[in-house]
Amino acid sequence: MDIKKELKYVTELNDIYKSILDEINVGIQVINHQGKTIIYNQKKMQLEAMNLDDVLNKNLLEIFTFKNKHDSRLLQALEKGVRTNNTKQKYFTNKGKEITTINHTYPIVKNGETIAAVEIANDITKYEQLKKSFFKNGNTKYTFDCIIGESKPLKNVIESAKRATRTSSSVLIIGETGTGKELFSQSIHHGSNRSNSPFVSQNCAALPDNLVESLLFGTKKGAFTGAIDQPGLLEQAEGGTLLLDEINSLNTNLQAKLLRAIQEKVIRRVGDTKDKEIDVRIIATINEDPIEAVTNNRLRKDLYYRLSVVSLLVPPLRERKEDIPLLATKFIEKYNQLFQMDVKRINQEVYRLFFDYSWPGNIRELEHIIEGAMNLVTDEEEISYIHLPHHFLNKSTFTNTDDSKTLQKHADEDLTKKLKDQIEEVEANYIKKVLLNNNNNISRAAHSLGISRQSLQYRLRKFKIKEELSRE
Ligand SMILES: Nc1ncnc2c1ncn2[C@@H]1O[C@H](COP(=O)(O)OP(=O)(O)OP(=O)(O)O)[C@@H](O)[C@H]1O
Ligand SMILES: [Mg+2]
Repeated sequence: MDIKKELKYVTELNDIYKSILDEINVGIQVINHQGKTIIYNQKKMQLEAMNLDDVLNKNLLEIFTFKNKHDSRLLQALEKGVRTNNTKQKYFTNKGKEITTINHTYPIVKNGETIAAVEIANDITKYEQLKKSFFKNGNTKYTFDCIIGESKPLKNVIESAKRATRTSSSVLIIGETGTGKELFSQSIHHGSNRSNSPFVSQNCAALPDNLVESLLFGTKKGAFTGAIDQPGLLEQAEGGTLLLDEINSLNTNLQAKLLRAIQEKVIRRVGDTKDKEIDVRIIATINEDPIEAVTNNRLRKDLYYRLSVVSLLVPPLRERKEDIPLLATKFIEKYNQLFQMDVKRINQEVYRLFFDYSWPGNIRELEHIIEGAMNLVTDEEEISYIHLPHHFLNKSTFTNTDDSKTLQKHADEDLTKKLKDQIEEVEANYIKKVLLNNNNNISRAAHSLGISRQSLQYRLRKFKIKEELSRE
């Protein structure tokens, strides 16, 4: 090709690349070796409300402010060769607009030198703001209608909780973190004839020891320097319900005072000489086995007997996995509405992972994973493997292998073969995802997986991934 033709060809090609960059629906920004922006596409302009002139050929830190200047992933890619995938980043433009994106960022290395760094950004600012305004609208009011699940163990607890709405007896709710203890407490309150009076909730673990007594029982003026006449939480909940979360964190002296308040229905403010009558229903929660807490002196035996007039054991999610689809569907609906999206379902592969996982964070963890996945969905209708957060994939593939209960169950049912197939399928999919994230570069993917290149090659052949790669 003569030089003129070649130049024409390169110029045309350049125009084509440019038009593609401006057509796609993700923000793209590239900085050169000096940290100056050389590519900045339409979507990125929209996302940051900036013009080309504001940004092009300017130093990144002149235009964008990060909480800490080392937070810029683009500069990390340029200066340290760091590659990051699906990472959330918050920053401000010099016009004061706060931006939140999920980014893929990587260096471009030529002949051993980093010549540029690229950022591919998905805008989630809108989601973040919606979420903020959604949760700012005050305390959510939970009722029994909000408790989702059709499994037998959950239905039994709901039944007992509903029965408890008819009385004012104390309730002890036992359950791991994220199982819905708060949800149950509020539902009992709102379903009872106390629903027009206050529902006050306090986490005992969050209170500094020297303040707990004043906070719970109130103070009388002059009780100590600076003390004023002030009602405690027990008085603030008058006529209603007081939820004491993590009761096992309350020191045992105060547990004794609380017992007195429950039994005699009176309290005495710190520094006061007179008792005050109160009418408050106490609901307490505990996230460990109460018998163990009693044995280890974290829960007074007499208080335990008093509180557990009604005791509700909320089962962990791993013991009612049949509720997962219903819960997942509800959370998708919730975030569809919140984020103005139209995700229709979760695909089978993801469900398989969900069923295999042990869910230590229970329903809260499931909700967070769905919310996280929906942040990564662009216009797909399905949540699939590629939308799942890394931390979940890491845990779900590895923690479950030591979930002896699950393994035992599989063995009992002689499903060993199937389990092996499933693990291999998960492994193959994970490898595909990592490859994709590394532009099918085998050395980098192997590094990222923490295995040798040979070992990755072996797996590519074993799972026939190589054939798929070459077809694409
Ligand atoms: N059965 C359920 N149906 C729908 N949402 C649920 C259910 N159980 C829990 N959730 C949701 O999961 C999250 C955690 O629930 P909640 O705060 O009640 O848990 P918790 O047991 O009090 O946890 P912690 O011990 O950490 O305080 C909340 O957002 C709640 O709405
Ligand atoms: Mg709670």
